[in-house]
Amino acid sequence: TPAPIYSFENLLAHLKTAKKIMVITGAGILTPLGIPDFRSFKGLYTQLKHLNLKDPQEVFNIDTFNRNPNIFYSIAHMILPPEDRFTILHSFIKLLQDKGKLLRDYTQNIDNLESRVGIPKHKLVQCHGSFGTATCITCHSKYSGSMIFDHIRHKQVPRCFSCYKDISMNDEVAINYGVIKPDITFFGEELPKNFHGSIKSDINDCDLVLVIGTSLKVYPVAGIIDRVPSYIPRILINKDDLPGKKFDLKLLGDSDDTASYISKILGKDWDIPNKDYC
Ligand code: OAD
Repeated sequence: TPAPIYSFENLLAHLKTAKKIMVITGAGILTPLGIPDFRSFKGLYTQLKHLNLKDPQEVFNIDTFNRNPNIFYSIAHMILPPEDRFTILHSFIKLLQDKGKLLRDYTQNIDNLESRVGIPKHKLVQCHGSFGTATCITCHSKYSGSMIFDHIRHKQVPRCFSCYKDISMNDEVAINYGVIKPDITFFGEELPKNFHGSIKSDINDCDLVLVIGTSLKVYPVAGIIDRVPSYIPRILINKDDLPGKKFDLKLLGDSDDTASYISKILGKDWDIPNKDYC
């Protein structure tokens, strides 16, 4: 006999009873703020064609960065996080947290907006790091991320106040000497420790998985849904379908619209806080 179909009504009922929801998000939840995602037709990777890289993903490759940090810093302004804005979807995740239903929020986004909307540190895994902090790649001095935002806006390479300040004009140093890099995970770098620390237990501990605004193209995040036991419902909320990926229910459309719709149907008790994000 075929497995019973998991319906939208099942999801609504499940949201009321669930206590350990795993949320996995990607750049698609940011497009309502006018921030492009990566792989859509008008996404960042299309906008980077002028760099003439073999693969636009190279701008986030650690070897490319070490060879020539200017490439990343010529485009970093395009992914600089917005200040004091977040989406309805961010607020929906905060609502799950306020209701004691959030097991963990795994975000691939590097804007640190989940922290700003109020998801506590222990509930948040920034799988690809964040702009919240930055590190000198030479002496490993730590900086607050916002300290390099002006450099990023002006397409300049930020240099370390600690090790680079001793360099005189005549010293010959490598192109990447004393460069400060935001603590975002580049291709070729390890994911933050708390990803591996949390995911092992969370995959068996969660009672519902919501995958929102991601193409699930980048591993290991893309592989999480295959590691979750098959009796745990996996829900996709995404503009585009992800053929070949297994979900129990797909809600195709805008993530803010979907979150608003769900909240409206669930009633007053599920009103999304802070809806004025624009
Ligand atoms: P992608 O650009 O690959 O995928 C974004 C997905 O969001 C697409 O499937 C869109 O259909 C969907 N989408 C766009 N707007 C949406 C909206 N308003 N509502 C719902 N869905 C929407 O972005 P990610 O999956 O986040 O990594 O990319 C994963 C990683 O690839 C990023 O973290 C980044 C990138 O290279 C690094 O740089 C390390």
